[in-house]
Amino acid sequence: MSTVVQDRSSAGPLLAKTAIVTGAARRLGSHIALALARHGANVVIHYHRSASQAAQLARQMTQLGVRAWTIQADLADAAQVEALAARSIEASGGVDILINNASFWPEDTIWDMTAQTLQTCMDVHVMAPVILARALARQQREGHIINILDTRVTDYDHKHISYHLAKRTLHTITRILALELAPRVAINAVAPGLILPPDGYGTEYLARLASTNPMNRYGQPEDVVEAVLFLLRSRFITGQVIYVDGGFHMRHQLYV
Ligand SMILES: NC(=O)c1ccc[n+]([C@@H]2O[C@H](COP(=O)([O-])OP(=O)(O)OC[C@H]3O[C@@H](n4cnc5c(N)ncnc54)[C@H](OP(=O)(O)O)[C@@H]3O)[C@@H](O)[C@H]2O)c1
Repeated sequence: MSTVVQDRSSAGPLLAKTAIVTGAARRLGSHIALALARHGANVVIHYHRSASQAAQLARQMTQLGVRAWTIQADLADAAQVEALAARSIEASGGVDILINNASFWPEDTIWDMTAQTLQTCMDVHVMAPVILARALARQQREGHIINILDTRVTDYDHKHISYHLAKRTLHTITRILALELAPRVAINAVAPGLILPPDGYGTEYLARLASTNPMNRYGQPEDVVEAVLFLLRSRFITGQVIYVDGGFHMRHQLYV
């Protein structure tokens, strides 16, 4: 069993940095959070409802030799987001990396969407990342922020309209923050395509949709993790989006 940080000897750029990963207790967020810990970062595991998974992940991280904190917050509530930022900075002594990964994916169309669902989507995907980014920037130290988008920001998801609108706004916010928070903080985005099936579905869900992208397959959480690590290691990239989607975002240019 590995009990030490993998690249401590090579003193990589993440060593001893502190990262907040939102929605980190399970699924894609837990893969990203664990990868940061494996590269020597201390991690604030933000969670909403998945308390036991968050605690288990924190134990895994401590075994790797890094520090881990679990903090609960409903990102739809601005006061709780402010508290998450303040508690993270206080506990760790300063935050260097923010991964805005948490997501709310309700089913709605243009015909049945409500102001309330749209508002919750905007609060979780836009306002929470902005509040956390401002808190990171106010520390006046160098840092990295990565917003997790969705390849469909370039397309249209008529079954998840509130989610779609909020992710498109987060895409725009990525560029705005990249200008506003320069030169200290770099802000980029990763836009996954088919990576994990929704809760309750198996890989057959992904296999059925694989032909919708040019590479005719689905990706793995590690593909997203690699893109995140690449951006965190970079010193001169800001305002960019890496699509980890088998080329899905080019679909219309290719086939129409
Ligand atoms: N899965 C994919 O293949 C795929 C494809 C495209 C884009 N993405 C993007 O990649 C990211 C991760 O995907 P995922 O499928 O792993 O995400 P997910 O399971 O839909 O959501 C991640 C976490 O967000 C947290 N969350 C939801 N509502 C919240 C709220 N009101 N306050 C605080 N936290 C809240 C939940 O935490 P708790 O469990 O603690 O409640 C949840 O576990 C998301 O941004 C998603 O949009 C994923």
